Amino acid sequence: MTEREFSKHCADELEKMILAEGPETVAAMIGEPVLGTGGIVPPPEVYWQEIRKVLDKYDVLLISDEVVCGFGRLGADFGSIMYDMKPDLITVAKGLTSAYQPLSGVMVGEKVWKVLEDGTDQWGAIGHGYTYSGHPLGAASALCNLDIIERENLTMNARDTGAYFQQQMQATFANHPLVGDSRGIGLLHALEFSSNKAKRAHFDPNLKVGPQIAAACLEQGLIARAMPHGDILGFAPPLVVDRADIDEIVARAKKAIDKVTDNLVSSGSWKAA
Ligand SMILES: Cc1ncc(COP(=O)(O)O)c(C=O)c1O
Repeated sequence: MTEREFSKHCADELEKMILAEGPETVAAMIGEPVLGTGGIVPPPEVYWQEIRKVLDKYDVLLISDEVVCGFGRLGADFGSIMYDMKPDLITVAKGLTSAYQPLSGVMVGEKVWKVLEDGTDQWGAIGHGYTYSGHPLGAASALCNLDIIERENLTMNARDTGAYFQQQMQATFANHPLVGDSRGIGLLHALEFSSNKAKRAHFDPNLKVGPQIAAACLEQGLIARAMPHGDILGFAPPLVVDRADIDEIVARAKKAIDKVTDNLVSSGSWKAA
């Protein structure tokens, strides 16, 4: 399938599921603009447009989970802007304060807000208070953090240095014998390791190839995350990185991956196809 065909296929599957459940029972769909912990997977072309069409048809709300993608990581203020998702609600957390203080939130669009507002007149105030809602310390650190993101133009840095990052990762790893896929956007990238690229084969999970490589990266002073859904190594460098930092990240990752490749070969666990 082409990417567009695959997006249409996903939207058709969604429609089948909504119909099977009964459209009147489906309130919303929640999704990340780019899948994060699930393996750092950017959506195929026009994915969100195709999904949105189905949701509109059955009056199902779209919630964009931007806990990872929000506040610049992809090289746009929000992933939903980058992919023109037109969400009804947006959830936010990590990048909102860059974790200097805990704070999360939900942005509510006009359509949902109107229901809450009218409902309040009719039924009384909606009870959604939490003990620490809107805590001044979290709110102050978010305001300060967002000022820094704006002042230092970090979203544009994520776009420009991010493009360099993607290019360097692709150039270095796309043809590496252990790497089945090198993908990402902005300052998010994943390397997925494969025992046989042509056959898209996975390694035996007992070999723990992903965790071994994450550990080898750490020995190089590089933090990269072994992701839970396969032998996938995730990279999310800070938004302040420059090109020299990227060169360093790529060089250290290569040393770590080469080392684990050599170990796999010398221990007889694997040989290149
Ligand atoms: C995309 C995404 N959404 C939600 C969460 C959970 O956020 P919270 O712990 O604020 O509920 C995470 C946590 O890692 C996440 O990556």
